Amino acid sequence: MLGKPFPLVLTPINAEEKLNFIQLQEYFLKYHCNIVKAASEYGAVMFKGFEIVSGEEWASVLYASGIREMNYVGGAAVRKLIVGTEGRLENPQILTTNESPPNQPIPFHHELAQTPDPPSHIMFYCSVNAAEGGSTPLIRSDFVFNWLQDKYPEFAKQAEELGVRYVRTVPEVDDPSSAQGRSWKSMFHVETREAAEAEMQKQGFTWEWLEDGNCRVSSKTLPAVRAGSNGRKAFFNQVIAAYTGWVDSRNAYGKAVVFGDGTPLPKEIIEDLAQWMFDNQCAYKWESGQFCIVDNTVAYHSRQPFSGRRRVFAAIGLGEKEVKGYQTHLVLTSSDKMPSVGFGCWKVPKDQCADAVYNAIKNGYRCIDEACDYGNEKECGQGIARAISEGVVSRKEMWITSKLWNTFHRKEHVL
Ligand code: FE2
Repeated sequence: MLGKPFPLVLTPINAEEKLNFIQLQEYFLKYHCNIVKAASEYGAVMFKGFEIVSGEEWASVLYASGIREMNYVGGAAVRKLIVGTEGRLENPQILTTNESPPNQPIPFHHELAQTPDPPSHIMFYCSVNAAEGGSTPLIRSDFVFNWLQDKYPEFAKQAEELGVRYVRTVPEVDDPSSAQGRSWKSMFHVETREAAEAEMQKQGFTWEWLEDGNCRVSSKTLPAVRAGSNGRKAFFNQVIAAYTGWVDSRNAYGKAVVFGDGTPLPKEIIEDLAQWMFDNQCAYKWESGQFCIVDNTVAYHSRQPFSGRRRVFAAIGLGEKEVKGYQTHLVLTSSDKMPSVGFGCWKVPKDQCADAVYNAIKNGYRCIDEACDYGNEKECGQGIARAISEGVVSRKEMWITSKLWNTFHRKEHVL
């Protein structure tokens, strides 16, 4: 459509040459602006044929993409944290994709479009592909809107003018048997009703507590049509997923989304639209190590049913951030970022250590490797202190490793 590939697929120039996550990170550090632009222009960019072997390695690459990390708050799906620390937003957070049962398809949606501030990007990474099925089909949302305008102009107009509201019953305890089984506790990262109410108020929800501890939640009226980052009008919402897919023991088919004025959506049109999207979707087969950056304002995503073990991770982002320098990182499971190149202090003479460390930092090192046994930790500290006091670097930017000899593991030895 429009003569543009969808998604745009990027592979190493030389297919024989395995490029690892450090090499790909170097590319990202250099070209991150182009990557974000390509995601907007094409809707999604797929990276294929690179050697990315874990969620941590993938997080290391994403960190250099220039997309600002965002935490999952308000989502309906049950997920597990793969990389990251609860509540720490500054580093990449990688989660499993929706943990709902494999035999259930997840209909097309825009990530968190049922909340006032949906992410600008959603990224997927395949760790293990399912034996059968399990694709993450995509479709351009502006094409969807064009189709609607042609075939159902009255509905397209109504959707644009009235907006939509999402209404659903949320359980008190996570229910992995349902695609929207995330409890209100885990959805808002809270323990009490009062804390949940504060969060819901912030997001403009209205709610009603039910006798069984579940909560009937209604969003405020949200737009059904928005301009994508490519400037084109998009049918950007959660309508198809909510209407056809938010069905479980608590929620009935066709009831989870209504027009902003409370009137129901037309069943025939929604079902025709869902069928058209299914017929025109792009569903590629995942390979281990493959990942995709989707502009959430330009493309829908969904999930095919599957059989066998499937490990696909997701991360979301909101807008762009500044990417500084050329330093590559290793992201740890905690989401801490360790520079991949460090300055080692072993055998650096005491009288030269402060200067050596200071100059290393001045020349771009952000990782210093020390040990009590090297005998120069104090001087190393002096070099770091000087660099900080001169404004060369902040403490937050530095990664400092130290080690204790095996006979010095007691608490009192640490200092
Ligand atoms: Fe999703």
